[in-house]
Amino acid sequence: MTAPILSVDDLRVSFPTPHGELHAVRGISFNVAEGQVFGIVGESGCGKSVTGRAILGLVPPPGRIVGGRICYRGEDLAAKSEPAMRGLRGRRIAMVFQDPAAALNPLFTVGSQIVAVMRQHRIAKGGHARRRAVDLMGELGLPRPEDVFDRYPHQLSGGMQQRIMLCMALAAEPDLIIADEATTALDVTIQAQILELLSTMQRRRSLTLVFITHDLGLVAEICDHVAVLYMGRIVEEGDPESIFHKTRHPYTEGLLAALPSGQTWREPLNVIPGSVPSGTAHITGCSFAPRCASVMPRCSTTEPPDVRFAGSHRAACHLYGDDAVPGETP
Ligand SMILES: Nc1ncnc2c1ncn2[C@@H]1O[C@H](COP(=O)(O)OP(=O)(O)OP(=O)(O)O)[C@@H](O)[C@H]1O
Ligand SMILES: [Mg+2]
Repeated sequence: MTAPILSVDDLRVSFPTPHGELHAVRGISFNVAEGQVFGIVGESGCGKSVTGRAILGLVPPPGRIVGGRICYRGEDLAAKSEPAMRGLRGRRIAMVFQDPAAALNPLFTVGSQIVAVMRQHRIAKGGHARRRAVDLMGELGLPRPEDVFDRYPHQLSGGMQQRIMLCMALAAEPDLIIADEATTALDVTIQAQILELLSTMQRRRSLTLVFITHDLGLVAEICDHVAVLYMGRIVEEGDPESIFHKTRHPYTEGLLAALPSGQTWREPLNVIPGSVPSGTAHITGCSFAPRCASVMPRCSTTEPPDVRFAGSHRAACHLYGDDAVPGETP
């Protein structure tokens, strides 16, 4: 793999709570290659959004990054000042969120909000910016973009609002987009359209896309590479073929077993028996051990090894460690 566009190494993010530190991200490492669609998938609360926000320096206070490194094109983002990050955010790396109604400012026309991104990053201003915004709106499938430009967010449907969010994300021509459940709030038909659009724009502009979702079906549709998160850690990672057909981690197996055959799973994935330990808990061994059908004694005492398989496929599981005993039964 050539030098990754984004490299995350042992990222840790915590939120102080009255019950102690909540460890939202407990040491995540991954590399995203240029032009790749990198999927991050897992159940609600596993740390997908916090990871996405940490990349942009947008962890909501009092949450904070307590360890690790995030490098974009070899530059350490944690070492950057807030003004430097503001220059990078939107310009080089943009984020698209789940709820466009909340992300758009209700007091300004949608066109002026796209133009504001261009102005902020000195891409274009005045009539030139307006023309560029209208062109972009047309490219993103908004009908009669000259008219839509002057509308307010509440005058648009959810699907149109999400297209405006994509226009804002693309307005300063970033090369990395982090899409956090960007289609989740939309109904199924519109969701498919936005997904198709995201995928077209990614190919057309050679963008790198970090695609965060709880929906394994969507991951299978558009991602080149998938990281499965559980309790703030990557438990398995690889290309979709490995993840879906050569599954190694019992947690991934559980997720796939919950996927109705022939359909896309669109509900939260809280379908594996047992409950997720509290985020403030100190974990020894494997965090999935209390719910794992293949649990062995050492799983609750020793951290699982990071085991590599063919290509970029890896899983953190004692079943495959060097000290795995053939025939050892759970
Ligand atoms: N602002 C916050 N204050 C306190 N805890 C937070 C905050 N934001 C997230 N957390 C906690 O961090 C953990 C990870 O949350 P995160 O939002 O990243 O989950 P997620 O995987 O994106 O879930 P979902 O699929 O529901 O969006 C959770 O335990 C969550 O409760
Ligand atoms: Mg989230």
